[in-house]
Amino acid sequence: MRLVILGGPGSGKGTQSQRLCNRLDIPTIATGDVLRAAITAQTVLGTKAKAYVEQGELVPDEVMIQFMRMRLLQPDVEKGWLLEGYPRTAFQAEELDFVLDDFGRTLDWAIYLQLDESTMLERSLARSRPDDRQEIIRRRIELFKKRTIPILEYYGLRQKLLSINAELSPEAVEREILQQLQVS
Ligand code: AP5
Repeated sequence: MRLVILGGPGSGKGTQSQRLCNRLDIPTIATGDVLRAAITAQTVLGTKAKAYVEQGELVPDEVMIQFMRMRLLQPDVEKGWLLEGYPRTAFQAEELDFVLDDFGRTLDWAIYLQLDESTMLERSLARSRPDDRQEIIRRRIELFKKRTIPILEYYGLRQKLLSINAELSPEAVEREILQQLQVS
């Protein structure tokens, strides 16, 4: 299965992708985690991404697209994957479809974790990552609304969108996702 999971900061993308990967036995590629690890390891990707991630800005599309194109060629993701936090802009969504076309594959579903802005802030503030400071979270929420919300229409028009109430408990959110994916 090939899935993407979309949602604002603190919507539970990381939480649910871990659960789904265990349940569906597919690997996850979490761009936020990949970028944070690359920054710590001071790799080329990390150097390019550092200033953006630390300020809550989006890493430029060309950097992310190039990374994802290479990553999706790796053998561990040959049989399926779940992308967490990618795509995050309309351009990334279109590019992902081009990559899939090149590989002769299709996306199964885009899962959207729908959450109130105040809960996004509350959950994110309860963590202590360097980019979880209030003003940075607010910027990430703003960018989510401006750059990622438009993707919902992109997937909706292609009948690939599953909207999930992410205000529920992690267990209930997982149940709702599995139900909509028709996985028992
Ligand atoms: P990223 O790490 O993806 O940040 P984010 O989108 O802001 O998401 P979070 O990791 O904050 O939240 P989450 O939805 O995973 O929630 P979680 O499960 O942790 O990206 C970081 C940065 O990288 C970006 O700002 C950007 O700079 C860059 N970047 C990444 N991808 C990019 C891309 N494609 N293009 C350009 N730039 C990119 O849950 C949050 C908390 O809530 C946890 O404590 C959890 O325990 C709790 N929780 C979860 N679910 C529930 C629930 N149902 N009920 C109660 N509590 C819950």
